[in-house]
Amino acid sequence: MMKRVLVSGGAGYIGSHVTVELLQAGYDVVVADNLSNCDLTCFEGVKKITGRNDIPFEKIDCCERDAVDRLFSEFRIDAVIHFAAFKAVGESVAEPLKYYRNNLLSFLNILEAASAHGGCNVLFSSSATVYGETDRLPVTEESPRQPATSPYGNTKQMCEDILRDTVMATAAYGTEVMSGLDKPGPVKGISLRYFNPIGAHPSALIGELPRGVPNNLVPYITQTAIGKRECLSIFGNDYPTQDGTCLRDYIDVVDLAKAHVAAVSRMTDGRMEDGYEIFNIGTGRPVSVLELVNTFEKVNNIKLNYRFAPRRAGDITAIWADPAKAEKKLGWKAQRTVEETLASAWAWEKHLAGK
Ligand code: WQD
Repeated sequence: MMKRVLVSGGAGYIGSHVTVELLQAGYDVVVADNLSNCDLTCFEGVKKITGRNDIPFEKIDCCERDAVDRLFSEFRIDAVIHFAAFKAVGESVAEPLKYYRNNLLSFLNILEAASAHGGCNVLFSSSATVYGETDRLPVTEESPRQPATSPYGNTKQMCEDILRDTVMATAAYGTEVMSGLDKPGPVKGISLRYFNPIGAHPSALIGELPRGVPNNLVPYITQTAIGKRECLSIFGNDYPTQDGTCLRDYIDVVDLAKAHVAAVSRMTDGRMEDGYEIFNIGTGRPVSVLELVNTFEKVNNIKLNYRFAPRRAGDITAIWADPAKAEKKLGWKAQRTVEETLASAWAWEKHLAGK
């Protein structure tokens, strides 16, 4: 029987790319999304890319316990990938309770329903933000987490811990996940710690749709290039790096999506070595802000309007992944080059502009 994956937040940026890769790998998918931070553009794009008009779409808010429970009663779900969450760091500082309520409650509901219906495999969408600032680079999964510097980051740490504790506690219900049953079962869990996801699907039919002024670098670059923004501010050129700008590990969103398929199959095929596992998902290559801007200009043959501006509060100098564990255990490795990724980001922006 085909395995079915519930993708919460599946209409969003990363969720839509993951839905495509899951369908193409032969999984059935149920998309659940409350459309609070996106519209149906990407879901329509997923249908076009995969040629599938029959993907179940459930417009639900995972903060509503009954709605989540109903999903697990209606569908036999072999794995959940939980994306449904707020993700703006600055907003989380201004409105912490909104972040704690939404990001924690939705995950609690998913975990309770997952365990109540015979157990389930749960993949949590975590972030490299849990590592904070460290001198020991690249970071491995064993690198210590630093105290979170924003409520957003704190929800990522807390959800990781909630998943780990749930796995431990529900192990008492046996080892085999028998999803769809009407009795409690074990939860198995994987947290994927993403570095900086960027780019879009090569079809240019799905990509990032930021609301308002983008916080993240690549949407700001593409919106400046298309003329929606006047000028890109590069936040800080006095960092202790080779060109003075920050270093990050930019991971292509399609590569990132494939990591989810690898992690889901590890869970559903019973290949986990531990009930709860953590993987870094990055390229292992640090790239500076200026390098990224220059590469964008070069591959797309565009002169970008940018200036150096003061540092942005809360930014760390450098972080990049040691992705060796993901390669060894998941058989996953980033494939696309930064050039290909930045070309895809630009193709998506042009698609949105109707060009
Ligand atoms: C990257 C670099 C900026 C915008 C954040 C979250 C993290 C994760 C991903 C989100 C930095 C510089 C940016 C601009 C710039 N989760 N920059 N001008 O800060 O590494 O990570 O997004 O869901 O938790 O913290 O990503 O894209 O904002 O910034 O110079 O207009 O680009 O200073 O060095 P960041 P980013």
